[in-house]
Amino acid sequence: MSTPLEDSPAASDVAPFDVAQVRADFPILSTEVHGKPLVYLDNAATAQKPNEVIDAVAEFYRRENANIHRGVHFLSMQATQRYDHARARVARAIGAIEPREVIFVRGATEGINLVAQCFLRPRLQAGDEILLTGMEHHANIIPWQLVADATGAQVRAIPITDAGELDLEQAVEALTDRTRLLAFSHVSNVLGTINSAKELVAAAKSKGIPVLIDGAQAVPHGPVDVLDLGCDFYTFSGHKVYAPDGIGVLWGRAEVLNAMDPYQGGGDMIERVRFEGSTFRAIPERFEAGTPNISAAIGLGVAFDYLEALGWDRIQAHEAALLQHGVQRLRELPGITLFGPDTATRASVISFSLEGVHPHDVGTFLDGDGIAIRVGHHCAQPLMDRLGVAATTRASFALYNTTEEIDKLVDSLHKVVNFFRDSS
Ligand SMILES: Cc1ncc(COP(=O)(O)O)c(C=O)c1O
Repeated sequence: MSTPLEDSPAASDVAPFDVAQVRADFPILSTEVHGKPLVYLDNAATAQKPNEVIDAVAEFYRRENANIHRGVHFLSMQATQRYDHARARVARAIGAIEPREVIFVRGATEGINLVAQCFLRPRLQAGDEILLTGMEHHANIIPWQLVADATGAQVRAIPITDAGELDLEQAVEALTDRTRLLAFSHVSNVLGTINSAKELVAAAKSKGIPVLIDGAQAVPHGPVDVLDLGCDFYTFSGHKVYAPDGIGVLWGRAEVLNAMDPYQGGGDMIERVRFEGSTFRAIPERFEAGTPNISAAIGLGVAFDYLEALGWDRIQAHEAALLQHGVQRLRELPGITLFGPDTATRASVISFSLEGVHPHDVGTFLDGDGIAIRVGHHCAQPLMDRLGVAATTRASFALYNTTEEIDKLVDSLHKVVNFFRDSS
């Protein structure tokens, strides 16, 4: 997702894929919930997994399971090879120069905590500032608050506009000589806003300020090129990109990562251990203490195989069409407020509120129709405060969703509106 969706091919320019065929790759989509066909529109929370990924994980445990880096026996060497191959595969998918710059972590949350503790904390002094934005997920707030509290530094946030975007001029102003790091989400998990990542990075780098991008909501929607973005760190979670849970990536430049102290200590990350003191390996092992989530890393590599075979241009065109349809249909509902920017600068995520109906009631009602959406503060309480709401309802679309599913969502929401209007 190095370019906003507005630059991605229009639906008409790209040969569409057969959605029915794509859906057949995802076994969970043919299940029923409360006797109704599942309509899964909670993809920003986690995406469903294609057979390719499920089979790769099952196959690993069925035939290949062994610990990595430790054995001279066949299975261990093969597992090591598969794990290393997954790293190289992910590196290629995100445009990293070298596989070793891809650190496998548990997810975006761990990636951000790692950078906060091992990169930023030793550089912070009282009075320093860490700059975030007003649309961050708690995972991109709390780790910075922890290191700020420990050092006397402060966390500040670039405000968002009423349209749910960042104003570049305001962002530049907020970058001061006290700013020690800029951290922002590539795509907002609530508003779907696709931030002008390259411009924000360039503004920070022109003042010598390091940048971390939280790509948790961007990687599922388009190809990311970390070198093109120009950031220092990029992190994301596997489970949102059609891969297993418990795996994610922190990317950073080799020289920066190798200069950082380890995050956790244990097996595999050491060079030489003595009771008087130990020395540590270079990346990636430096940051991968203990037995990693081997099968999930393999699954992540396979997920990128799947996505690239389907074609990012086709995925983006399909999701753009879903977003258009969703916004258009949802606007029909009386008393609806849609949050977030114009569809040209957002990913396929729609947050909204219905006048007089609590989002939790909406969620429960839709669940009865087999429709899974997300309600609540979406781990973004400062953003909820800015929007002036305690919670929203969020529908988020993935490559396997259909316009018919969106129509079912809207039909069900009409029932919600009528039910609450009649009972009030
Ligand atoms: C923008 C954003 N950042 C970070 C996270 C945290 O991801 P995880 O819980 O997989 O570590 C999320 C999860 O929803 C997210 O949406």
